[in-house]
Amino acid sequence: MKSALITGGAGFIGSNFIHYALNHDPHIKVVNFDVLTYAACLKNLEDLPDPSRYTFIEGDICDADKVDAVLREHEIDTIVHFAAESHVDRSIFGPGTFVRTNITGTFTLLESARQVWLEDAGRSVEEVRFHHISTDEVYGSLKPDDPPFHETTPYAPNSPYAASKAASDHLVRAYSKTYDLPITLTNCSNNYGPYQFPEKLIPLILLNAIEGKPLPIYGDGAQIRDWLYVDDHCSAIFDVLVQGQVGETYNIGGDNQPTNLELVRWICTILDDELPDSQHRPHESLITFVADRPGHDRKYAMDTRKIKTEMGWQPRETLATGLRKTIAWYLSNPDWVGEIKTRPTFSEWLVQNYAARGDN
Ligand code: NAD
Ligand code: TYD
Repeated sequence: MKSALITGGAGFIGSNFIHYALNHDPHIKVVNFDVLTYAACLKNLEDLPDPSRYTFIEGDICDADKVDAVLREHEIDTIVHFAAESHVDRSIFGPGTFVRTNITGTFTLLESARQVWLEDAGRSVEEVRFHHISTDEVYGSLKPDDPPFHETTPYAPNSPYAASKAASDHLVRAYSKTYDLPITLTNCSNNYGPYQFPEKLIPLILLNAIEGKPLPIYGDGAQIRDWLYVDDHCSAIFDVLVQGQVGETYNIGGDNQPTNLELVRWICTILDDELPDSQHRPHESLITFVADRPGHDRKYAMDTRKIKTEMGWQPRETLATGLRKTIAWYLSNPDWVGEIKTRPTFSEWLVQNYAARGDN
């Protein structure tokens, strides 16, 4: 791993991964390839540990000529593919972009890698790697007593987002089986941490609470997600890049499974502590039940024995420590928060998603 192409590196997890990779590998060069959608923020990359090993290229993963050129010019040997449309609620309003970016975009990258690495340069399996970042949502929804998702659990995606990610996973697998493209794949549970766009539950709730705005809980709030601190996701990806078996899939998760309502209450309690002078205490009083998400998955949980046994990976943060770190980060980065919140695309989204939901 000398020269890595990070797609979607201006988004939440991609930018955290760039920090992680530059910090943990003193030799790696990183090229961030990102089209800068509404979810991107170049501020995430302003304080990199060694900027001389970092290049940003604005580009679309559906643009085959541009992807080919970047792979050649930067002698890319590793692709870590984060770029995606990533928000389930947006996929309900507009699935077309999800099909284009997540399926066609992944296909375009795979074709470029096959052409440039295997056809033109005859690179061996040991020399190159295509790592695909995916989600637990491809497995569908668990019933209360079901065992957690295993790498062999059949795919059963329920949202357009999950279906588009599932399709991309299948393409990645097919390129491994058919063309011997050296791939690895990770399916991870819900992430949280610094730089997360505040359309997702945790940053939305904590920023609304700070401002005394309603905290919208979809349906009854008894849905369960498995929460993982973003740096722990980055360390798992890094471990798979270094130690993972080519052609294999690894599940990643945090074994943190509160209901949405419990999680939101927890965030409120931490904010009550952190902001003793706030006029909005107790923040829990801001909780508002709103109309549910169509097709809302009830429960996710991950069986992470494979990555733990094969490479000794363990998350460093518990939900308690990770939430405190995350809240501290948002409280101490008002410039970042202000830049995102004043974007017209963000306020338009809040109206589109919440105006018609009402109180339950
Ligand atoms: P994000 O929405 O914060 O960032 C996505 C990034 O991809 C943005 O910078 C965007 O500009 C870029 N992008 C979108 N379309 C592009 C295109 N056509 N060409 C180039 N760049 C493009 O997403 P995230 O939360 O950081 O998620 C990253 C990856 O991790 C996604 O593949 C997602 O499915 C997966 N994942 C996310 C979570 C989570 O909890 N956020 C959990 C598991 C897996
Ligand atoms: P989200 O952060 O959108 O992640 P995902 O849908 O990928 O799991 O949502 C996490 C959970 O929180 C999910 O069950 C939906 C719920 N949720 C709310 O209850 N209210 C909200 O305003 C949002 C954005 C999510």
